Amino acid sequence: MRAVTSFSFSTEGPAEAKAGVLVAPVFQGPDFGPGVAETGLEGAYRDAKLTGKKGESLLVTKRNGDRFAAGAVLLVGVGDRKEFDVTGMRRALGRAASSLGRFGHAATTFAQAFDGDGGEAAQAAAEGLALGDYRFDRYKSTNDQKRLSKITVLGAGSPKDGREAIRRAEVLADAVAWARDLVNTPAGDLPPAQLAREAQKMAKAEGLTCKVRTEAELKKGGFGGILGVGQGSVNPPRLIELTYDGGRGGKPIALTGKGIAFDSGGLSIKDAKGMESMKIDMGGAASILATMKAIARLKPKIDVIAAIPTAENMPSGSAQKPGDVIRHYGGKTSEVLNTDAEGRLVLADALALLAEKKPACIIDTATLTGACMIALGTDIGGALGNDDGLVQEIVDAGREVGEPMWPLPLHRDYRRLIDSTVADVKNIGDRWGGAITAALFLAEFVGDIPWVHLDIAGPTFSEKGHDLGPKGATGFPVRALVRFVLDRAA
Ligand code: BES
Ligand code: ZN
Ligand code: MN
Repeated sequence: MRAVTSFSFSTEGPAEAKAGVLVAPVFQGPDFGPGVAETGLEGAYRDAKLTGKKGESLLVTKRNGDRFAAGAVLLVGVGDRKEFDVTGMRRALGRAASSLGRFGHAATTFAQAFDGDGGEAAQAAAEGLALGDYRFDRYKSTNDQKRLSKITVLGAGSPKDGREAIRRAEVLADAVAWARDLVNTPAGDLPPAQLAREAQKMAKAEGLTCKVRTEAELKKGGFGGILGVGQGSVNPPRLIELTYDGGRGGKPIALTGKGIAFDSGGLSIKDAKGMESMKIDMGGAASILATMKAIARLKPKIDVIAAIPTAENMPSGSAQKPGDVIRHYGGKTSEVLNTDAEGRLVLADALALLAEKKPACIIDTATLTGACMIALGTDIGGALGNDDGLVQEIVDAGREVGEPMWPLPLHRDYRRLIDSTVADVKNIGDRWGGAITAALFLAEFVGDIPWVHLDIAGPTFSEKGHDLGPKGATGFPVRALVRFVLDRAA
């Protein structure tokens, strides 16, 4: 949950900033970064035998006679100045923020370490502090951990650019925190109908159009994939449609995300360990909802539509069975040989629906395969698609915001691995190349629309905690998707 309530950009001097804590960088040397000289703490830093190595830090609380107005100063070692970039800054501030809550108000000079485009650096600095401060404590009966209430970025350059940058950071931090909240919320408290209500609430607040199809309406519309996956659960599925009108007309950007409220595997049931974290299987859906929320607030001049399928994958007497054949929206059929390969079944319907609207492109996000985690590890998303230029555009957006994604090949020869004897396609390949056969299944439903599939099974959730947040949901790849949309609108 986001605690930070106010964000600001200021051109006041570092010594004057009346924050609870002032955060300033020190490069390897020590080579003091912006603001350190003004605080008069170089001597204290040297006396502590620190050299500006990454991970080192020195906290000095204010005493009579100190030259700075803040209640404390945190000097953060960030390593080699030549290797320091905006992504490194965001992460350094994220790490620092996790233990600064008790100071209430944090100000930082970090953004001044970059000359040129001040906006980009100011935005990243504010994002780092806000994201690092995130905690999910809704279910803790004692939550005494204090959180930041105010973030100030001290910058040079134009105050107008600075304020706009901080506004973007605020919107993004809020959207990411919401995505994290949705993913961290136990599946018992967030069945498909509830996720749809959250979407409707958000849409109403932000001025988006939202239409939710119920199970009966999904039946009428022929959404066999969503219905098939959802039929084993007492919590019926939904399809959430959101529309952002950017006022430009022309073809919209289309988004979808896998919204499996809980993935037990269905009758092809997972083991106990495999199920432990499966409340996160709606991470794709959450990332798209949060992206739409941020877009509604940032108002880029481009139209964006989303169709988000959500269902609960459960075993029961009414569950779909291995060997069943389902008919997807648009008429294609698939043979369900493994009910645990359910994400592609719900996404197929949504992709077919979006493709029918002839958008400029389609992006989907999904915690789709363990195979992608084997290939790329936990930090990197896999990007597969039918248009290399579009894949590169998304990967670039991810690099710019510090959300790593890497292209994997949509190797068309492997299409034979999902040939079915009874239906148009089957929902599993063989043991190898699982991320690719999953994407090839999805490719069947997008027609000739430029499309990228992001397999985010790894980066959706952090087992150990990370620089920009604690253990739990990460909000990946909301910032990259928003960047992609803003770049397209520019
Ligand atoms: N939701 C899982 C994938 C997953 C696994 C996400 C671990 C995050 C962490 C997905 O529905 C699934 O079960 N995939 C299977 C596919 C297989 C049955 C073809 C997998 O990856 O094993
Ligand atoms: Zn799943
Ligand atoms: Mn599954």
